Amino acid sequence: MNNYLIDHKNESERLNFQNKIDICNLDEELGHFTWNRNDYILDAGCGNGNVIEKLVEMKMGKIHGIDFSLDRIKDAQKRFENASGVSFSQGSLEDTKVADSTYDTIVCRYIYEHLSNPKAVIKELNRVLKPGGMINIINFDDMVFNFYTKNEHFNRELKKIQERIPQDIQIGRKLPQYLKQNNFDKVQWQAQTYFFQGERLAMEVKNSQMRFEQGRENLARYFDSISDYDRFVENYLNELHDDCNVLSSNKYLIKARKCAE
Ligand SMILES: C[S@@+](CC[C@H](N)C(=O)[O-])C[C@H]1O[C@@H](n2cnc3c(N)ncnc32)[C@H](O)[C@@H]1O
Repeated sequence: MNNYLIDHKNESERLNFQNKIDICNLDEELGHFTWNRNDYILDAGCGNGNVIEKLVEMKMGKIHGIDFSLDRIKDAQKRFENASGVSFSQGSLEDTKVADSTYDTIVCRYIYEHLSNPKAVIKELNRVLKPGGMINIINFDDMVFNFYTKNEHFNRELKKIQERIPQDIQIGRKLPQYLKQNNFDKVQWQAQTYFFQGERLAMEVKNSQMRFEQGRENLARYFDSISDYDRFVENYLNELHDDCNVLSSNKYLIKARKCAE
């Protein structure tokens, strides 16, 4: 089941905008990992192909992208129609329909906080990875809701909604253990905390606005009414403008090896 709550025809535009925020620096993120040009690489949850664009620039020979959203896959196919060695398919990461031990390396960027069954996805990605192959994960932890405002009622609202949504916003910190428990070894991780101020905050305000607009239909289900949702969004965006309200988030960079058989 596709539970990507902010899926929308404008999602490619939002992803491209988000990539311009300094905390989403793809070169830095990908530079953290080792890449081998002869590897067959899977970009799991590829969206419109921003990670793949970098991998093509890095001259990786063979890349496949899988995403649940047919619109994202179409955007990506159009973008890479002249690139050799790049292919895409629409599918669920819980059940990719790909043969066992297909890929040498898997990259997943910003997907786990959107999944309702992250452990099932870890198991499935382990299955399609060759023994000894690497999974490279870039994931935020505590996005959007790690926000303390002057408005105590609103702070309680933030907690309440976080508990209602099926996705785990604090998945980043759990991934190293989940990997270790699911046939990965040599798990290495590091994390950075980012605070939103100045230009970064201004960009995050716009990003949040887009998220909330795109996800209105899906997200409102976790509120008592659509007007409660609209009020929540209005309060959220207003509180972001107060420079003594602190919004922060952690980014995890994790690599792990599929246990050799
Ligand atoms: C925040 S976007 C990240 C896209 C891309 N990795 C990037 O860094 O630009 C998350 C993507 O995960 C996809 N997604 C979410 N749940 C999925 C699932 N169960 N199976 C496949 N794709 C999924 C969404 O369609 C969306 O394109």
